[in-house]
Amino acid sequence: MPQVTIQSQLEHWQHRIQALLEKKLPLTDLEPQELHNAMRYGALNGGKRVRPVLVYLTGQALGAELADLDCPALAVELIHCYSLVHDDLPAMDDDDLRRGQPTCHIKFNEATAILAGDALHTQAFEELASHQFTQQAKPQQVQMIRQLAKASGSLGMGGGQAIDLASTNKTISLDTLENMHRMKTGALIKVSVLLGALCAGPLESSQRQALEQYADAIGLAFQVKDDILDIESDTETLGKPQGSDLEKQKNTYPALLGLEGSKQKLQDLLDLSLQALDKLPYNTQSLAELAQFIVNRNA
Ligand code: IPE
Ligand code: IPE
Ligand code: MG
Ligand code: MG
Ligand code: MG
Repeated sequence: MPQVTIQSQLEHWQHRIQALLEKKLPLTDLEPQELHNAMRYGALNGGKRVRPVLVYLTGQALGAELADLDCPALAVELIHCYSLVHDDLPAMDDDDLRRGQPTCHIKFNEATAILAGDALHTQAFEELASHQFTQQAKPQQVQMIRQLAKASGSLGMGGGQAIDLASTNKTISLDTLENMHRMKTGALIKVSVLLGALCAGPLESSQRQALEQYADAIGLAFQVKDDILDIESDTETLGKPQGSDLEKQKNTYPALLGLEGSKQKLQDLLDLSLQALDKLPYNTQSLAELAQFIVNRNA
């Protein structure tokens, strides 16, 4: 059988999640039309879809049903899209380009972008709470909802964003930076792996530990790479303004460790993630390739 490259796997899952989002997001002829337009705008305009891909790849490696994986895949991407719409607002990073298009508040207005983010956020939980899971995943449904809420809230992504804003223009320690990155970006990536795994059944503790080590490493790596790309890539490739972190004097890995130090950190995190996968009794090749994709991507 020909080897399926990570690129073609990504495309496959990207199409699947795109179709799911198209189907599940409220249609634009439904009132309030402007809000529904803005929700679809914030969620349907591309993106790498790394978090849903992680749900699918982890779930498949552990033997979950595809019918169960769609729902958490959709939920994590809805949360992620909400976080991007809010992250770009004038009160936060004040950026005007996202995924190659004007940001939601530029295309619509600030109030609509805030509400669209809110509605994407709550739709994620509505989906997860109302889905009819199979017997394999159903016992873990409440745990999935709880874990996603925790990863998104004040001790996860939301809290990380608060630390990011409070520490802008200030000197912070490497520990504080690492904690901020783990919260603002790592938490949602980590929970994507966990939700995929929970669809396959309750997790035995040593496997949970190994999966958490993998997810923790790639979650931090994702933001370290994002920081590096802000310096090394260009606006067209990124689809968002290159140099935005420097301009806003954000605390980033390159700002604290330099570019070379940041690249070394990235390599160490990749090694850590691959070592974690070696501890698991499944075929984790796709998860290994996804970790490599996260550190090698150019956007
Ligand atoms: C960007 O996330 C924001 C971060 C958490 C670093 P992605 O790089 O996953 O953005 P999209 O979804 O591909 O646009
Ligand atoms: C955002 O980090 C993390 C989120 C929770 C959205 P960034 O502010 O670095 O993300 P980009 O670079 O704007 O995508
Ligand atoms: Mg930000
Ligand atoms: Mg930003
Ligand atoms: Mg960034």
